[in-house]
Amino acid sequence: MYLRSLHLRQFRNYLDQLVEFSAPKTILVGNNAQGKSNLLEAVELLSTLRSHRTVRDRDLIREAAAIGQISAQLERDLGTVDLAITLRNSSRRTVALNGQSLRRQLDFLGTLNIVQFSSLDLDLVRGGPEQRRNWLDSLLIQLEPVYASILQQYTHILRQRNALLRQATGVRSQVATVDNSPPASELALWDAQLAVAGTRVIRRRSRVVQRIAPLATYWHREISGSTEELVISYVPNVELQSDDPAIVQQTFLAKIQERAIAEQYQHTTLVGPHRDEVNFTINQTSARQYGSQGQQRTLVLALKLAELKLIEDVIGEPPLLLLDDVLAELDLNRQNQLLDAIQDRFQTLITTTHLGSFDAQWLNSSQVFTVKAGEVRG
Ligand SMILES: Nc1ncnc2c1ncn2[C@@H]1O[C@H](COP(=O)(O)OP(=O)(O)O)[C@@H](O)[C@H]1O
Ligand SMILES: [Mg+2]
Repeated sequence: MYLRSLHLRQFRNYLDQLVEFSAPKTILVGNNAQGKSNLLEAVELLSTLRSHRTVRDRDLIREAAAIGQISAQLERDLGTVDLAITLRNSSRRTVALNGQSLRRQLDFLGTLNIVQFSSLDLDLVRGGPEQRRNWLDSLLIQLEPVYASILQQYTHILRQRNALLRQATGVRSQVATVDNSPPASELALWDAQLAVAGTRVIRRRSRVVQRIAPLATYWHREISGSTEELVISYVPNVELQSDDPAIVQQTFLAKIQERAIAEQYQHTTLVGPHRDEVNFTINQTSARQYGSQGQQRTLVLALKLAELKLIEDVIGEPPLLLLDDVLAELDLNRQNQLLDAIQDRFQTLITTTHLGSFDAQWLNSSQVFTVKAGEVRG
């Protein structure tokens, strides 16, 4: 797929900017705080309807404006698609495909596919488990858009259940004089829903890890010159010992029972995929705790290359690659590995403050734009 044009109106620091792409790679060069990442963020929104920088549409709309808009023309194998997102200060955003407003936002997902790589992504290895769950979830939304609603459902049930547990100020006990614990029947209702929705999340996460792990291991081996063996494993909070969702739900409910007392003390849900982890080990050692910075970089690069391949396999067309400020952080060896892997197959948008920081090879197939105070110039 190829992003032909991107039109930003009252989006972040852009007033009205049309950007037309014509090369396999586009380099956006400019000082800090000029709008480079904002442009990539617009592409991220077109792809996932999410921004990794904010959850509030108000932040995305240009200051003092009421409405912002991102529109784009995307070439896919089957033809050209027009995408548009309209953001509003005072009401819900709306989305349109080929000029048709969509009732369900879910139908917008899956049209534009991307892999993002920013300097923040090193936190994928070093940061807490939430980062790795987010990584899996974003990938899953692209591979199977229905996952967006599965996850939303789970989060909704989790919030309701947590609210119920919070209401309970007392602790259930045989001798308690004040017992504000939620009625067992009400809680049981939420337990059942949590187990059903949670099992869906767990099964999908498990599947995507199984698919991406060998690809990442392959790339890690390539980049490290065959000296390192990366193993990625999914560590669900509720064990997945069976392919049968009914059995996973039973395990889920049994674990809720086990943790019931602890939950009433802590007033929060302790069981479920919101507590999942993904482990990365290199040569049998935890990359998070013991990996060198070089190893961690190799790992993240391997993950990104694996994402490109997995999305391409599943979708049947190469996704876009967005590199935000990250190229200059890779040494020449890793830069070249990346270049070899993407060649001209994956349309790549690259932001940087200095053109000088990367290999001249990159410039060969690139179009270069300068970004300054919310304006893009060729
Ligand atoms: N809603 C908004 N309205 C106007 N300006 C904004 C808005 N959101 C962010 N900005 C401005 O955008 C700039 C940051 O842009 P960004 O793309 O992150 O910079 P960089 O070029 O360093 O990647 C800042 O100057 C910030 O004030
Ligand atoms: Mg930036």
